[in-house]
Amino acid sequence: MDRTQKMSGRACGKLILFGEHAVVHGYPAVVAGLPRGATAAVAAASEHQLTLVNGRNGERIARARPTEDTQLGKSFAAILSKFQMALPINVNVTIDIPVGAGLGSSAAMATAAARAVATFAGMTDNLAVIESAVHESEAIFHGSPSGIDAAAALGGGAFKFQREGEGSSIEAIWVDPVRIVICEAGPPADTKEMVKKVTDFYHSRQNAVGSVFALIAELADEAAPALAEGDWQRVGDLMNINHGALVALGVSTPALDSACHIARQAGAYGAKLTGSGGGGCVFALTDDRTDDVLAAWKDMGYSGFEITIP
Ligand code: PMV
Repeated sequence: MDRTQKMSGRACGKLILFGEHAVVHGYPAVVAGLPRGATAAVAAASEHQLTLVNGRNGERIARARPTEDTQLGKSFAAILSKFQMALPINVNVTIDIPVGAGLGSSAAMATAAARAVATFAGMTDNLAVIESAVHESEAIFHGSPSGIDAAAALGGGAFKFQREGEGSSIEAIWVDPVRIVICEAGPPADTKEMVKKVTDFYHSRQNAVGSVFALIAELADEAAPALAEGDWQRVGDLMNINHGALVALGVSTPALDSACHIARQAGAYGAKLTGSGGGGCVFALTDDRTDDVLAAWKDMGYSGFEITIP
């Protein structure tokens, strides 16, 4: 192997449009890959090392060796264990989305890193190995993830996702490009903790929480054709209802609710939290109303950024 050789890999972050939390319990969800996420570069080194860098300000987020008893260290060890490495390597991952904010940064990190390591090890074509590295890494960060983040990071695009036993079903949705704004309204949240909170709530109030999950499933089912038809008002209404359901599950916060209200008042078709909640991000479907919503958030002290999906 050429010691100076450098290999790279990319992956996208994700936006859960409908169905977070319910998806963990087998209900359908709708997700879109983000146009940004993570980029990894691998080069031979004197010892194995993984470094995460915030692509938005160039600052180092974390560094780990595979022997370390940290989530990042264990994730790196899991990724390395899938490939036959002849030399120690340095993996540098630049993350271009907020971290721990419901946008799938851990899956994007693992996917970009696994792709770059696979290329370095001459195993680019082995998608099953890359997928299994990402799933193992996600289990380290999230306990028992539904797999929706990994599916979005690996595949991108917009799709309906449903957990099926150990696997999942994926149905592509062809969405015309539409403008969305994202606002990091809360502090980073712990997905593992939020998933446990909702699961415990489900176990203690099975009928009531089961009904909320069933409502969320109906929203995801109706949203898929609405997205494909470009019926933004219908999509927005369904998003608002989905946010209400997440409030009922106890995963919203005053800051997330407030960011949703401001966006709707400024003309957004709809707004909801995305990901596990407890903090993190809100997104609003804005299309031609994007500037109004960004300005309204700014006036109220929230900073947002625009993306186009899918
Ligand atoms: O907070 P995030 O971006 O990891 O999203 C988690 C989505 C959940 O539905 C809450 C958990 C899962 O594994 O699907």
